[in-house]
Amino acid sequence: MTGRNGKNLSKNMRKLLPRYIFSMLRQIGSIANANGYSAFVVGGLVRDLAMEERNIDLDVVIEGDAIAFAGVLSKRFNGTLVAHKRFGTASVFLKRGLKIDLATARREAYDAPAALPTVVEFGSLKNDLMRRDFTINAMAVSLNKNDFGRLIDFFDGLRDLKEGRIKVLHTLSFTDDPTRIFRAVRFEQRFGFRIDAYTEELIKHAVSGEMFEKTSRQRLREELILILKERHPVKAVLRMDELYELAFIDKKIKFSRHLEGFFESIEKVLGWYDSRNGLANSVDGWIIYMMALLDNISYDELQRLCDRFVFANKDRSRLLSFKEASRKAVKILNSGASVPHSRIYSLLEPLEREVVLAIVAKAGSRVARIRVLEFFRRHKGMRLKISGRDLKSLGLEPGPRFKDILEKVLYQKIDGRLKTKADEIRCAERLIPLSKR
Ligand code: CTP
Repeated sequence: MTGRNGKNLSKNMRKLLPRYIFSMLRQIGSIANANGYSAFVVGGLVRDLAMEERNIDLDVVIEGDAIAFAGVLSKRFNGTLVAHKRFGTASVFLKRGLKIDLATARREAYDAPAALPTVVEFGSLKNDLMRRDFTINAMAVSLNKNDFGRLIDFFDGLRDLKEGRIKVLHTLSFTDDPTRIFRAVRFEQRFGFRIDAYTEELIKHAVSGEMFEKTSRQRLREELILILKERHPVKAVLRMDELYELAFIDKKIKFSRHLEGFFESIEKVLGWYDSRNGLANSVDGWIIYMMALLDNISYDELQRLCDRFVFANKDRSRLLSFKEASRKAVKILNSGASVPHSRIYSLLEPLEREVVLAIVAKAGSRVARIRVLEFFRRHKGMRLKISGRDLKSLGLEPGPRFKDILEKVLYQKIDGRLKTKADEIRCAERLIPLSKR
């Protein structure tokens, strides 16, 4: 164990952190000194600093009362304080969307396997680090004056980082928190590391011991979403399959050539979508991957799954709408015959962007991409120059026919047959039966 005599990361901090964050960390150190506390940054930021990666997630551990400390900090920086007395934690919200999370160094007990931790007593930094997930995430950097930037590495996290190893700190890590089963894969794939043999054994043991059953589905869902938000989720999903983790989502989900191809196609479509100017509305890539992952379960099964994992209504409706629309839409988008723009419009306009992109990825063809690009660029959100008022002036009584006629006129416009308002009026006129005028 390297204990408190690690190397100094202050150069990396100066180089990689925005100047105002660096200066804030320095000030946190001064405040700690003035109050007789020790302050440390911990977790992902330290890992990334050691890897020379940028990260601005500020997790601070205080040996002392973190809530009182956060109060001082919040006053000094004119921030807003939110404290959680029960856990001895606080967040300070600052300008520019910056947030600092502070925790009192703690020793935790878990009431039951997989339950949320309850703080039972205040402890030292070492106690705090010991309860964390992996060695690479269990390092700290001291912020106090005269010690600023010193790496504290009790569990050889730096060595594991250099040797590319994901390793738990103790045997019960996955029992304490089964969401770590996913985190292991996420970090392994993100950094191109390897889960160490013992940790892998513990994962398989936890999965076969149905540890997932003892965890809140919401937390597992969130971890799964984080995996799908990684840059190349396909490898992570393959790895989850190897570690039997996919079955927890649904027994029918297996890694297959089809799923791999679908994921690769999504990656291409997202790249293609991002690179097109004018299509700049950003999309939630993760839900598109989720659609692919759940592609071979039925509509009813998907409904049950959404209930089980308590998906937000918005996400649930996107997942179900892909399930409902994709088969027919893929067939039409891939059709070798000519398809009127209005047909594509009527198919795609009611769908969220993510659903449309999942459909193009599933279609997997150039012709589908061209058709959808055309739809996004020229037709999505297209409006008529005329409205119901014009139909009234043409003598049509208000009623359900209004919507019908306006839609037909719009389709004509999308198919390039109408240019001006006068064209639209003439078209509407033709569509109103004489008897209704
Ligand atoms: N942590 C943990 N067990 C978990 C979640 C988090 O021990 N189930 C600890 C780890 O020390 C982690 C820190 O809390 O580094 C912060 O968690 P989080 O922000 O979720 O992860 P990061 O490591 O910052 O990862 P990312 O880069 O994906 O944000």
